[in-house]
Amino acid sequence: MGSTRKVTRGAQTWLYPLPALLIGAIVDGKQNFMAAAWGSIANAEPPMLCVAIRRSRHTRKGLVPGEPFSVNVASTSQAREVDFCGIESGASVDKVSKCGFTVFYGSLDKAPLIEECPLNLECTVAQIVELPTHSLVIADINESHVSEDCLADGRIDVSRMDPIVYVTSPARKYAHIGEAVADAFSAGLSL
Ligand SMILES: Cc1cc2nc3c(=O)[nH]c(=O)nc-3n(C[C@H](O)[C@H](O)[C@H](O)COP(=O)(O)O)c2cc1C
Repeated sequence: MGSTRKVTRGAQTWLYPLPALLIGAIVDGKQNFMAAAWGSIANAEPPMLCVAIRRSRHTRKGLVPGEPFSVNVASTSQAREVDFCGIESGASVDKVSKCGFTVFYGSLDKAPLIEECPLNLECTVAQIVELPTHSLVIADINESHVSEDCLADGRIDVSRMDPIVYVTSPARKYAHIGEAVADAFSAGLSL
């Protein structure tokens, strides 16, 4: 670690790293996907997640309490597609055909899933908290789909999945998850 001297930089949305997720929804009757980095797991039992969607997004119209949508975890090989879904709007572009996504459906209708992504979560909107600029969408995770080649002994092997990570401002880069540095829930036991 470097110097412990600090400077203040004001209120910032700086948090590192963030996932670069693809949120899938049916909007105006059409499948659409948008990039979202402001997402997290929110509850354990039942499994729930949350994602912050700016109210002006086309995708926001497709997120309705009680209705399905999807969260797709892309791999680093899909950086171009993730970025495209984050700079173009489904209001004017068919992102599915532009990105060449193969869309499939699981147990929920209206939750479009991307076959090329190694992990897909089928979700149902549980609650939406309206914040000043963003809608915090809180959702139940109903089902998960994992590409078989990302499993080892039936469990997710993150190195095979190679999920894409977003490194926010000022870097604004997509990256791999770095190397492991210690065992979680174990390294601290020595203190
Ligand atoms: C890496 C990345 C992360 C993003 N994260 C979010 C996010 O968490 N929430 C959000 O509202 N917009 C986010 N955006 C912007 C939207 O993805 C972008 O405005 C997109 O065009 C919206 O698509 P839509 O109009 O089809 O809904 C992100 C964009 C990028 C490139």
